[in-house]
Amino acid sequence: MASAGEGFGRRVQSAIYRSGISGTRPAVPTTPEALELAAEKTLGREAFAYLAGGAGSETTVAANRAAFGNWRIYPRVLRDVGERDLSIELLGKRRATPFLLAPLGVMELAHPDADVAVGRAAAALDVPYLLSNQASRPMEEVAVAMDAVAPGRSRWFQLYWSASDELNASLVRRAEESGCEAIVVTLDTHLLGWRTRDLDLAYLPFTRGQGIAQYTSDPVFAGLVRDRVKKASRGTWAEQSIRVTPKAVATAIRMARNGSNTQVFAGGVAGAIRSPLPRAAVETFLDVFADPTLEWDALAKLREWTSLPIVLKGILHPDDAARALDHGVDGIMVSNHGGRQLDGAVASLDALPAVVDRVAGRVPVILDGGIRGGADAFIALALGATAVGIGRPYAYGLAVAGARGVSEVLRNHIAEFDITMGLAGHTAVAQIGRDSLVPSA
Ligand code: FNR
Repeated sequence: MASAGEGFGRRVQSAIYRSGISGTRPAVPTTPEALELAAEKTLGREAFAYLAGGAGSETTVAANRAAFGNWRIYPRVLRDVGERDLSIELLGKRRATPFLLAPLGVMELAHPDADVAVGRAAAALDVPYLLSNQASRPMEEVAVAMDAVAPGRSRWFQLYWSASDELNASLVRRAEESGCEAIVVTLDTHLLGWRTRDLDLAYLPFTRGQGIAQYTSDPVFAGLVRDRVKKASRGTWAEQSIRVTPKAVATAIRMARNGSNTQVFAGGVAGAIRSPLPRAAVETFLDVFADPTLEWDALAKLREWTSLPIVLKGILHPDDAARALDHGVDGIMVSNHGGRQLDGAVASLDALPAVVDRVAGRVPVILDGGIRGGADAFIALALGATAVGIGRPYAYGLAVAGARGVSEVLRNHIAEFDITMGLAGHTAVAQIGRDSLVPSA
């Protein structure tokens, strides 16, 4: 994005109001509720349930939002805020804004261009993109798309620690080769949460071959799939491969199309429909996905696999933050997975201050969960976050208007943050602190 000193927020506002004169309204609504509603209208039931839903009674989804309401911004006046600098320092680099794109899996549910569209928007606005382990497109493809917009724009890779260390190491190696700047290990999904909307629809995208492109494009995973097919009795596989139900065909087609460098099977769509491999790939994925026995000492292996900074995502308790520091991690993401994992878990914003206090500036603390605009980002930064992750809103932007929709969502967050900072009386992110807030009555 252009230098914030020129007034990014004002430029965005003016552009919107100016196009209004000729009758054009923004493609993507600026209010979070209207944005979600617009996405719902474009999406099928299963897709919307997966994107919007949370675990259990969705109390943590609600708490993530409600937590922002416990704080009010305490503005200061008559200070020259004509020039505002939105940049921050994060993992050894100056970043244009304090925003990141949180990793979201299965973006093909929102738009066929999926992660590639998100990557283009992220690169254009210089917002680091955390590539999901459950992406719909292989990381290599997204890296190329981002570099085509602006070479070297920031991407990090989010790892789900699978039951195969060979696969974990392979994914990390590929992330390094794709120019990722950090490895983010998500720790809150060692079991899949009790996601009531998805359960009622009996819908899990991965079982339909959606959101497993990082796996099917991986040489180690391809080996696991082939071993599985070899081990299965010939009869069983022959039998399964001729039971060609419409759902199975749809899965095979989807998998054949997902990822130009699919390692699991060649021969395109026709080959995939006849082959037992797509189904074996889904089964293999379900076998290896996540490892509920994982413990802290596993992190030493990751240190051997990579020299990239390691960020732990899903830390809520200050004692876990302290343990993370003992293990030499480079960053912490305070997150409850947008309320999709443990229903009843503490809101991420409520967990933030204690983690920030315990970390005491030794590593950056990133927050996600409930960020719906620039004022939310301000509150999180005031409570000590170094940066914030945008989650669902960019998926909704993608659903509404593809890459352009993601761009507008990011642009709106940045613009509102810029204006919030100015109205609160600040010219630099470092000036935002706990004294910028007051508890709401
Ligand atoms: C996620 N999230 C997530 N996290 C992660 O580490 N890897 C992943 O693949 C995904 N996938 C995913 C899909 C969808 C549809 C959603 C909504 C979320 C969690 C995500 O990174 C982030 O923590 C939350 O989205 C933040 O909450 P809000 O802001 O979306 O409410």
